[in-house]
Amino acid sequence: MTKHTPTPRSQEPEDVQKRDFIKGLTAAFLGFITLFLTIPLVSYLIPSSTGGSDEKFLKVPNFPTLGTDKPTKMTTVEDVDVQAFITTKVVYEVWVIKHAADKATVYSSLCPHLNCRYNFDSTKDVFACPCHGSVFNEGGKCIAGPAPRPLDTLPYKIEGGELFVQYKLFKAGIPEKVEA
Ligand code: FES
Repeated sequence: MTKHTPTPRSQEPEDVQKRDFIKGLTAAFLGFITLFLTIPLVSYLIPSSTGGSDEKFLKVPNFPTLGTDKPTKMTTVEDVDVQAFITTKVVYEVWVIKHAADKATVYSSLCPHLNCRYNFDSTKDVFACPCHGSVFNEGGKCIAGPAPRPLDTLPYKIEGGELFVQYKLFKAGIPEKVEA
């Protein structure tokens, strides 16, 4: 009895077309995945041209309605790009003393001793830090406690009656005001 070994079937043009189609589809899919993974990496490595809050003045709401010469804690919000297509909101707190429609003092809300958040004691007209007892007058001068420097003022501008603040962080625990 003779045994027949199967001979490979010659490839039909239809088979070749299917194979090329699948190859093309796979290449397109891999290209898309590579692009999808690369964009966030590149956006992480290249700093945004607008920079962080270091370069931006953020609007502090309700400045026109604020009473004068009364320290008020206010918040401002920044939308920050954390990854491609994803933004998150960062809330900054500042203390504002409005002196006039075009003049104010703006303090960072962090105590220069060790970065606790301090409050305003309206019965004594002083800023008081709950952590280690530093006390500051309305001018920001430390009048009691371990804080090594006055309260940190922040750059601001007033445009169209609205207050805009440049939020910055400073190194804690040292006598000089140095950006962190
Ligand atoms: S952090 Fe304010 S007194 Fe220490």
